Amino acid sequence: MTSRKPIVAIDGPAGAGKSTIARRVAEKLGFIYVDTGAMYRAVAWKSLRAGVSLSDSDGITALAKSMTIRFDRSNGQRVFADSTDVTEAIRTPEVTRLSSPVSAISGVRRRLVEMQREMGTAGGIVMEGRDIGTVVFPDAEVKVFLTASPEERARRRQLELAEKGIESSLDDLAAQMRERDDRDSSREDSPLRQAADAAPIDTDNMTIDQVVEAVLRLCEERMRGCCSTT
Ligand code: DC
Repeated sequence: MTSRKPIVAIDGPAGAGKSTIARRVAEKLGFIYVDTGAMYRAVAWKSLRAGVSLSDSDGITALAKSMTIRFDRSNGQRVFADSTDVTEAIRTPEVTRLSSPVSAISGVRRRLVEMQREMGTAGGIVMEGRDIGTVVFPDAEVKVFLTASPEERARRRQLELAEKGIESSLDDLAAQMRERDDRDSSREDSPLRQAADAAPIDTDNMTIDQVVEAVLRLCEERMRGCCSTT
């Protein structure tokens, strides 16, 4: 029996609803929420800013090692790369595209996984990404693998962009998403895949509330008697 608080790992492809669900589950449990995709995006942002080309894996690894990535939870969930608030800057299409090949660089992954494990030392955390249940916290008490059909995921992303006043084509979004999924799933280091002991949830015909409920139910089942939640 462990004395740390539980860890909830939520993995899945882009647009499956991980961020929304993970954030709400963390709120309900009073746990810390960590969006690991934002960390890969921050490294991609920094490499663009520093003019380090994607072909220079060592250069990008050196950047990842030298920079700090911090979440400020006092004012929503702001993301800082060193002292710069990059919360909005890491969501541009350019950074989104670059974050996938940057996340395939082993040196970058090693550094970020180390930071993520540090964040989870005390538990009491909901962490979402692609390799949380498989690599970062293989012993997490709760593991969820969220999926949705490519059409549904593209539709959700379109709505999200529309809310920011950005018009986009569903076909283009679906194509970009497919490309990112293929790359994230086929890379050698820590590819996106479901952990053997993760609970799969297909969110296609579910509301956000229903998915949150399903994850909370799973937390209740898995956390019962396994460790302290207070
Ligand atoms: O979840 P997201 O779209 O913000 O993630 C950005 C990129 O980072 C995505 O292409 C996959 C990668 N990523 C990863 O490889 N491992 C994680 N734990 C989280 C994200």
